[in-house]
Amino acid sequence: MTDFHYRDGALWAEDVSLTEIAEQFGTPTYVYSRAHFERQYRDYADALGDHPGLVCYAVKANSNLGILSLLAQLGAGFDIVSGGELERVLLAGGDPSRVVFSGVGKTAEEMRRALEVGVHCFNVESDAELERLEAVAADMGVSAPVSLRVNPDVDAKTHPYISTGLKENKFGIAIDTAIDTYRWAAKSDHLNVVGVDCHIGSQLTEVSPFLDALERLLLLIDELAAEGIHLKHLDLGGGLGVRYRGEEPPPVSDYIGAVKERLGDRKLELVLEPGRSIAANGGLLLTQVEFLKRTEEHNFAIVDAAMNDNLRPALYQAWQDIVPVHPNGKETELWDIVGPVCETGDFLGKRRELSLEPGQLLAMLSAGAYGFTMSSNYNSRPRAAEVLVDGDRPYLIRARESMADLVRGESKAPEKH
Ligand code: LLP
Repeated sequence: MTDFHYRDGALWAEDVSLTEIAEQFGTPTYVYSRAHFERQYRDYADALGDHPGLVCYAVKANSNLGILSLLAQLGAGFDIVSGGELERVLLAGGDPSRVVFSGVGKTAEEMRRALEVGVHCFNVESDAELERLEAVAADMGVSAPVSLRVNPDVDAKTHPYISTGLKENKFGIAIDTAIDTYRWAAKSDHLNVVGVDCHIGSQLTEVSPFLDALERLLLLIDELAAEGIHLKHLDLGGGLGVRYRGEEPPPVSDYIGAVKERLGDRKLELVLEPGRSIAANGGLLLTQVEFLKRTEEHNFAIVDAAMNDNLRPALYQAWQDIVPVHPNGKETELWDIVGPVCETGDFLGKRRELSLEPGQLLAMLSAGAYGFTMSSNYNSRPRAAEVLVDGDRPYLIRARESMADLVRGESKAPEKH
């Protein structure tokens, strides 16, 4: 922890104390460190060095305009999976020509908008999608830049819910049949074949699965070149995993270095779509203990954040550290940290060794990626505030939702007729 650290007996985000943030903005609140996002993005950009390519931040990890705009200011590209994410990138000042459009279910409307603004390419996941894209492009009288997402059938050795590169998954075009799709696409007047991509899974803490996938993609690229279909870029999907609890992901430079070496003298631009490794450890979820409740079986600390704020523990049994904002030095006990939502699955952490008092502030760490973006209004809970810290300044980048926000667009049923 460097961007979040203890100083004078309390936890700070850069040069702002979390106590001050809680007083000013309330809880639960997501708090981000700008320095962390910048450093992690630069790690990828520097590792790419002068090799032509793009670092396309995966917007789904954290799509707040504050975060997207700080990355846009650094010249980042973006990996999007919906029209909504595209509009966010544009609102944040991102450059559409540095956007790759992923996702298995793009609508014709989303395709049209992406063609209008001029995205770098569409990562196409099926023959049916390619046909739809061709029809939309033909209707607009343009040619759509296309990369085929192939499924290389490699085991990413990660949680089954976030493993995506196996034959059994819904993603991509099987690598064995991709060549037929390429042949077809290459003949179309309205498709411009520019690349190939894959994404085998998330939270990968080893380089070898990426290199296995790369090996298979290179075979395909060479086979296509032999037929006169020359690809301009290769996109290896998401980035490395992060440390939640003792994991030791390799440095980005090791990963990118190994990839560049294997590309040999092929003239291929390299596209990367990191999300988690840029965002996860750049954020925490600040929450307050409401009640302590001891039962025969467990000690429960009921806090004001819940599964609707951070779904990862409930959905993946994900472990994220939970630390006191003011360590009190008193004897610790084992606590289950749970939220107010009416579900047994509503927990943030189980059996955590802490010394707790009602009213105390806690910070759930590694919450910058897939935290707020996966939050919901379940139990009619307004979504949390988000604060971006830059040096000694906290900026509110998303106000806590109000009651009016919660019911926006809803209306009462008319009297029964
Ligand atoms: N590109 C594509 C096509 C993806 O599907 C993903 C993530 C990424 C890039 C970014 O991967 P990353 O660099 O973050 O590993 N909600 C889950 C993670 C789901 C990841 C889905 N796809 C979690 O909270 O762990």
